[in-house]
Amino acid sequence: MDLSYRKRLFILLLSICLLAGGGLLFKKLLVPKSFGVYGPYRADAIAEAALVPVRHGTNNSCFKCHPYEAKIHKKGLHQTISCESCHGTYADHVAEGKKIGTLPVKKEKEITTLCLKCHNTEIKARSEEVIKTVAMPNHLKDQKVKLTHNCNQCHHVHAPLKYIIRAKQITGLMEAGS
Ligand code: HEC
Ligand code: HEC
Ligand code: HEC
Ligand code: HEC
Repeated sequence: MDLSYRKRLFILLLSICLLAGGGLLFKKLLVPKSFGVYGPYRADAIAEAALVPVRHGTNNSCFKCHPYEAKIHKKGLHQTISCESCHGTYADHVAEGKKIGTLPVKKEKEITTLCLKCHNTEIKARSEEVIKTVAMPNHLKDQKVKLTHNCNQCHHVHAPLKYIIRAKQITGLMEAGS
C-alpha cells in the first residue's frame, strides 16, 4: 500500500487512542470497586478475610476441658509445644463449646515417628542449642533396651522428663522437688 505520510501518522495516532481507550475501559470493567480505598489492594478483602472461620485455638482453649493433660503439660518441657501440633485442628474437635469430632491420637510406632520429627539428630536443621535431639538407634542402645521400644515407654508424651525425673528421685540420684 502506498499511503501518504499524513495518512500513516493518522493511522498511528488512531491506534494509540484506541489502545488507550480500550485500556481505560477494561480497567473500569475489571478493577474491583473497592480497589485502592486503603492502598493498592481490594478493601473488601479485609472484611472477607475476617469472615473466614477460625480453625485453630491456643493451648488455653484445650485446657478447660482437659484439666488432667493441662496439669501435666504445663509442668513439663513440652509446655511451649502446641497441643494441636500433635493432635490436629481445634475446629475439627470443638464447635460452640461442645465436642463435635474426634482428634487423632497417635499410638505405638506412630508416636516414635512423631517424636523424631522434632528430636532426630539426623535432621541437621535442628540445632542442639534450641532442641535436644537423639540419634537412633543409639539412644535405645544407651538405655540397654530392645530396639522395638517406642519413645512413650520411657517419656511421658505431655511432659517428656516426668518419669525420668521420678526415677532419679526414687533411686536417690536427684533431690525431691528438683
Ligand atoms: C508432643 C506431642 C503432644 C503434645 C504437644 C500434646 N499431646 Fe496429647 N497425646 C500425645 C500422644 C502421642 C498421645 C497418646 C499416647 C499417650 O497417651 O501416651 C496423647 C494423648 C492425649 C490424650 C488422651 C487421648 C486418649 O484417648 O487416650 C488427650 C486428651 C490429649 N493427649 C490432650 C492433649 C492436650 C490438651 C494437649 C495440650 C495441653 C496435648 N495433648 C499435647 C501427644 C501430644
Ligand atoms: C468443649 C470441651 C473440649 C475442648 C475445648 C477440647 N476438648 Fe478434647 N475432648 C473433649 C471431650 C469431651 C473428649 C472425649 C472424652 C475424653 O477423652 O476426655 C475429648 C477428647 C480428646 C482427645 C481424644 C480423642 C478424641 O477426640 O476423642 C484428644 C486427643 C483431645 N480431646 C485433644 C484436645 C485438644 C488438643 C484440644 C485443644 C485444641 C481439645 N481437645 C479441646 C472435650 C474438649
Ligand atoms: C513439635 C516439636 C516436638 C515434638 C513433636 C516433640 N517434641 Fe520433645 N521437645 C520439643 C521442644 C521444643 C522441647 C524443649 C526444648 C528442649 O529441651 O529440647 C522438647 C523437649 C523434650 C525433652 C527434654 C529434653 C531436655 O531438655 O532434656 C524430651 C526428652 C522430649 N522432648 C521428648 C519427646 C518425645 C518422647 C516426643 C514424642 C512423644 C516429643 N518430644 C515430641 C519439641 C518437640
Ligand atoms: C528405654 C527408655 C527410653 C526410650 C525408649 C527413649 N528414651 Fe529418650 N531418654 C531416656 C533417658 C533415661 C533420658 C535421660 C538421659 C539423661 O538424663 O542422661 C533420655 C533423654 C532424651 C532426650 C534428651 C537428650 C539430651 O541430650 O539431653 C531426648 C530428646 C529424648 N530422650 C528423646 C527420645 C525420643 C525421641 C525417643 C523415641 C525415638 C526416646 N527418647 C526413647 C530414656 C528413653
